[in-house]
Amino acid sequence: MNAKLVIANWKMHGTHATNARLIDALLPSLQGIDGVQVAICPPMPYLAQLSDLLEHTSVAVGAQNISERAQGAFTGEVSGQMLADLGCAYALVGHSERRSLYGETDAQVAMKFEAALNAGLTPVLCLGETIHQRKAGNTNAVIGSQLKAVLDQVGIAKLAKGVIAYEPVWAIGTGETATPEQAQQVHRHIRQVLAARDPALAAGITLLYGGSVKDDNAAQLFAQHDIDGGLIGGASLDATSFVAICQAACA
Ligand code: 13P
Repeated sequence: MNAKLVIANWKMHGTHATNARLIDALLPSLQGIDGVQVAICPPMPYLAQLSDLLEHTSVAVGAQNISERAQGAFTGEVSGQMLADLGCAYALVGHSERRSLYGETDAQVAMKFEAALNAGLTPVLCLGETIHQRKAGNTNAVIGSQLKAVLDQVGIAKLAKGVIAYEPVWAIGTGETATPEQAQQVHRHIRQVLAARDPALAAGITLLYGGSVKDDNAAQLFAQHDIDGGLIGGASLDATSFVAICQAACA
């Protein structure tokens, strides 16, 4: 089993004041948890605030998105270098909300993955199927093709420098979690697809599960052989829940 990683995705929530209160409530407990890397992805405008608040702590900062471009006339975009400059260690790429609401394509996601690596960030590649795709029996095919787009762009050696998060679209923000068995099946499939390129690298890559992870289901999910931690949305906005989830990862 790989070292555990738990990432909070705050999505579009927070203010300077609420962020400071949440970090205040989290830090004493998170600092005491051994053996789990924790990262927090606030909205872009608060990256500097979070970097300041988390300086000299074990908790890392990540971005929820990244431009596929290095620099230039791309109004409203934020480059990997800027994110690194703001103290980010991670960048989410291809979150399903970006794919479905903002039309991000597999090709764009692959470029974002590479842009993050180029800036010295750890990309967190999000993959997931819709409920229709699952009901049609296409889960593995969908995940496989999302993965292949990035593998074809960067190759297995670079892909293995990132993290992969399996987030079934139907489980995000719905309260309906994949069962530990459903999640493990897809995680195993992801590892098999990677192992076909390089078994040793595939074994070492961190695979996170995301989608309605709560304090009462985290332990069972994290106990699965191919689940190395979680990407947490709603429950990461509540200090007690998020601490319990991080604790479940070190159990
Ligand atoms: P929820 O935990 O709110 O379902 O969100 C999951 C997610 O999208 C994390 O990136």
